[in-house]
Amino acid sequence: MHRAVVLGTGSCLPRRVLTNDDLEQMVDTSDEWITARTGIRTRRIAGDGEQNYQLASRAAEKALEAAGVSAEEIDLLVVATLTPHMMMPSCACFVQAEIGAKNAFAFDLNAACSGFLYGLDMAGKYIAATPEMKILLIGSETLSARMNWEDRNTCILFGDGAGACVLTGAKQRGIVDCCLYSDGSLWKLLYMDSPASRNPDLLIEERNGCFLQMTGRDVFKHAVRAMENAVVDLLNRQQISINDISLIIPHQANIRILSKLTERLGADQEKVFINVDKYGNTSAASIPIALDEANRQKRLKQGDLVLFCSFGGGFTWGSMLMQW
Ligand code: UT7
Repeated sequence: MHRAVVLGTGSCLPRRVLTNDDLEQMVDTSDEWITARTGIRTRRIAGDGEQNYQLASRAAEKALEAAGVSAEEIDLLVVATLTPHMMMPSCACFVQAEIGAKNAFAFDLNAACSGFLYGLDMAGKYIAATPEMKILLIGSETLSARMNWEDRNTCILFGDGAGACVLTGAKQRGIVDCCLYSDGSLWKLLYMDSPASRNPDLLIEERNGCFLQMTGRDVFKHAVRAMENAVVDLLNRQQISINDISLIIPHQANIRILSKLTERLGADQEKVFINVDKYGNTSAASIPIALDEANRQKRLKQGDLVLFCSFGGGFTWGSMLMQW
């Protein structure tokens, strides 16, 4: 059977850097609190010419270049995002037009912070059926557009950015296995309202604006437990141990979540890729940005086992094993 293998990766971060000192001027917070509780020191905020699809397109172009694949060769283009700049057409259709991927069919996928993992799993299944397919998968967010910049519980955590990869079929390497989960019953712990309804019968009460809202402490607990279980399920299914993994690329939400997860899994800290200090939580973009950085830093060697895990709104969560 053919597996989905990554041919090339790319990423794009907005120019503007927002520091903890900057946030001290905006809400009642401190660099000390943010650093101690989250590990985040800076995050990037999109500006002029940096709409979601534009960041996504720049990341995609870098991934295509690294893969040695032209935009016209792409058969399927998927953008994992929860912050498209328009509700319709999809961000993926804007990217298609921007980069000239005219032979692709294109759509968005929303599984919040787990969107890129869900997308990888889906790409793996398309490729198992049609191995010659070339898929461009992007995780891209402009969360800054959906922040309540007066809410210190959330605005310090999130950032903007995009990451991408090009996938096709291979026999020896690629996606090995994946465990995905959702639990919609806990949605109120982490959600984002939609724009106000034009149909009065469909108005949602207690609307606070089209902002991201979160009960941080509860999300924290669920995130650690869920990602741990997802990884353990995957390791058990594959009958391998955490020591067989060369690099763990987790969703970057909070350094304390990652430390707890590392500890509970008994993993070597050196094997956990971390860049949350630089970019904060970029939701669906966090794993592909980290993957691109790890790749460009040459931390991935052919044959290495790479483990991904994520947790986000929905709730959605999961784990994936890939042989690089
Ligand atoms: O992508 C997946 C989705 N998101 C996440 O995974 C995030 C998960 N949650 C978290 O990362 C953490 O819960 C936070 C970083 C959001 C908060 O950290 P915490 O240690 O859980 O703090 P807390 O919410 O329990 O708040 C502790 C205190 C509170 O004050 P009191 O009630 O103890 O007086 C908060 O009001 O810290 C206060 N606080 C702040 N103080 C300074 C909350 N936010 C801030 C802030 N600056 N920005």
